Amino acid sequence: MSVWAILVAAGRGERLGLDHPKAFAKLNDQVLLAEPLRRLDESDWIDAIVLVAPPGWEEPAILLAEELGCGKVSACVAGGERRSDSVRAGLAEVPPDAVVALVHDAARPFLPEDVIERVLAPLSDGWDGAVPGLPVSDTLKKVGADGAVEGTVSRDGLWAVQTPQAFVADVLRRAVASDADATDCAGLVEASGGRVKVVEGDARLLKVTTADDLAKIASLL
Ligand code: CTP
Ligand code: MG
Repeated sequence: MSVWAILVAAGRGERLGLDHPKAFAKLNDQVLLAEPLRRLDESDWIDAIVLVAPPGWEEPAILLAEELGCGKVSACVAGGERRSDSVRAGLAEVPPDAVVALVHDAARPFLPEDVIERVLAPLSDGWDGAVPGLPVSDTLKKVGADGAVEGTVSRDGLWAVQTPQAFVADVLRRAVASDADATDCAGLVEASGGRVKVVEGDARLLKVTTADDLAKIASLL
C-alpha cells in the first residue's frame, strides 16, 4: 500500500500576523515547516510527500527540504486561496496508483509517529478515512453577537479533530472533484458520502494559530 503525504503549508497565517507566511515563522532554530516535514520524511509509514507551499514560496520550501535531506519529497506546488484549494493542488501531484493520501497541516509541527499509525489502521478495515480527535473537555456555549449566552451546548459525542487525516486516495479525489470547501478534508469526504472514523489524537498536535501557540510548541519540541 503506497501512502502519499500532502503537507499543506500554503496559508498566509493572518492570525499570527508576521510579514511572511506562517510556515516560515521561526520555531526554535528552524522554521515551522521544517519540523512536520522532517517527521513525515522520517516516518516508516510514509512513502512520498507533496509539499504545498505559499504561492511564491515554492523555492524556499524546496531548498528547506534539500537542506533537511528529505528524500521523500516528490513535488512542491503552490497552494490556493482556501485550504481545500491547497489540498486539491497537492492531490493533483499524487500519482493515480497511490492507495492512501494522508493530509497534514504544517501548522501542527508536533507529529507523533503513533498518530500516523492510528489514522492508517482503519483504512484496512474498510473505512474511507480516519482522523485523530480528542473529546471536547470545555463547556460549550452558544453566544450571540452582543456576547450574550444563548445556551449551553451538550458536549456529548463532540470531538475536536486534528490532522494528519488519512483517506483512501480515490475517495479524497472524488471529494475534492467539485469546488466544495470545508475546514478539514474529512468535511469534504463526509459531504460526498464517505465514512470517516475518529481515532485517538494527541494534545501535542496543537495547531499554531497565534504567537502564544508558537511559544507553547517551541517548548514541547
Ligand atoms: N492552508 C493552506 N492553504 C490555505 C489555507 C491554509 O495550505 N489557503 C494550510 C495552512 O498553511 C496550515 C493549515 O492549512 O498549515 C491550517 O490552516 P490555518 O491554521 O488556518 O493557517 P493559515 O490559514 O495560514 O492561518 P490564518 O487562518 O490565521 O491566516
Ligand atoms: Mg486559515
